[in-house]
Amino acid sequence: MIIRRLSADPEPDLKSIDDLPALPLAPGFKQEGRRQLITLLQAGLSPDSLLLDIGCGWLRGGYWFIHFLNAGGYHGIEPWEARLEFGRHSILPPEILAGKQPRFSGNEDYDFTEFGRETFDFFFASSIWSHCSKQAIDRMLSQAARHSHQESLFITSCWRATATHPDHAEDRWLGKNKDDGQGVTKVHHDFDKLRKMAAGHGFGMQDLYPNRSYSWLKFSRL
Ligand SMILES: C[S@@+](CC[C@H](N)C(=O)[O-])C[C@H]1O[C@@H](n2cnc3c(N)ncnc32)[C@H](O)[C@@H]1O
Repeated sequence: MIIRRLSADPEPDLKSIDDLPALPLAPGFKQEGRRQLITLLQAGLSPDSLLLDIGCGWLRGGYWFIHFLNAGGYHGIEPWEARLEFGRHSILPPEILAGKQPRFSGNEDYDFTEFGRETFDFFFASSIWSHCSKQAIDRMLSQAARHSHQESLFITSCWRATATHPDHAEDRWLGKNKDDGQGVTKVHHDFDKLRKMAAGHGFGMQDLYPNRSYSWLKFSRL
């Protein structure tokens, strides 16, 4: 029910999520999670979709995805164990965790074979490409190519490189990390390079917000 209202109204008044505990999290946590779900709904997510949430963190979007999807439809990868545990046990209601049977992996190598699924309908990466290297992106796209079918979509947020924010060329994660909890830098990528890289893996790229520096990219099989 809630989700149906969501797809029709981008800013619904959802009392139910206010049952969440006071969150030691970024301001706008609930709204951003809701926006993530709307992004996926607009791309065609349905209750029977199989979704892989790459770098799911403390389930900012996962909270919504898991509620919406049928049991067994949600798969999350998150190497930062404490963060994921907080999401599973402090954010997700226990009955949803038990009933929806989300599956999780702590894999750090963007290895999508972890869940034993041949393919996923949606690959989702929110605030991941804002911190990772081109090498990591290449790995994600190559894994997505291996685990996708003709209709699968890869949806990711990404900062656009500009004259003042040059293309990220380092081969390392620049963001908060699980080892010391430090680092908040965000990185920008040259969208033309991403487009070429995606084509090499058999994906076409659509820039969903071409006039914004922070965009969402949608990759589909060529
Ligand atoms: C900025 S957070 C975003 C979390 C979540 N997607 C969201 O929108 O709230 C980035 C997450 O990516 C995770 N991460 C870092 N390296 C990763 C890797 N190699 N594979 C998967 N996730 C990774 C971090 O631990 C962190 O939780």
